[in-house]
Amino acid sequence: MNVTIKTDEELDLMRQSGHLLAKVHEELQKAVKPGISTLELDKIGEEAILALGGIPNCKNYEGFPASVCISVNDEVVHGIPSADRILQEGDIVTFDTGLIYKGFHSDAARTWGVGKISDEAQKLIDVTKQSFFEGIKMAKAGNRLHQISRAIDNYVTPYGYGIVRELTGHGIGKSLHEDPIVPNYKKFFGGIKLKKGMTICVEPMITMGQRYVGWLDDEWTVVTVDGSLAAHYENTIAITDGEPEILTLV
Ligand code: MF3
Ligand code: CO
Repeated sequence: MNVTIKTDEELDLMRQSGHLLAKVHEELQKAVKPGISTLELDKIGEEAILALGGIPNCKNYEGFPASVCISVNDEVVHGIPSADRILQEGDIVTFDTGLIYKGFHSDAARTWGVGKISDEAQKLIDVTKQSFFEGIKMAKAGNRLHQISRAIDNYVTPYGYGIVRELTGHGIGKSLHEDPIVPNYKKFFGGIKLKKGMTICVEPMITMGQRYVGWLDDEWTVVTVDGSLAAHYENTIAITDGEPEILTLV
């Protein structure tokens, strides 16, 4: 386990990186509408990243072919943008993207409704987002990492939703994926002790049905096995002496 502790100078660069990423997500959100393809959305995201002086960190990551992972409906994460995938009224769409700025990574994900969506779909999106905020209430120096995971699980499970286990949050810094992994479900271990200067991505991936996921033949797209909708919400956060600092909100 190699968990990096950022200096104040490094944290400031992480903050800058995260701030730019928040703006990219604003651009992506504005572009969501029925009729747009996920490839067009990827282009909007990539251009926003480059215009802000960032480098897309998804592009070519282990061969991923785009700058924004775009996942629709039962796709959980890592959907590959395509000209043939056209958003329809009532869909839900997840953008998971990140950038490198002055050597430091940021990573964040959002799920949005396309036009008018069902109350059930909106509730899934809202609960997923709130579960992040419940989790990070525990993200304090001196607490155990697992307290974050447990808080997410305790909040989500009463809704009857599934919590994806195959993918987790992660440390972040000069690399996109650093130690520790940050599960979104209860385990029986305490995990590492959180310290000031750690930067982690907390990213619940929640399904409306069962928690089981599979991979499509493209070897990237993660989908729910039962075809139920999935939502994702992620921010890069910093552990401080007090409340955690969310680096990827405007
Ligand atoms: N932002 C995603 C994450 O949390 C990036 C996935 S890697 C990619 O790890 F290649 F799919 F982009
Ligand atoms: Co992430």
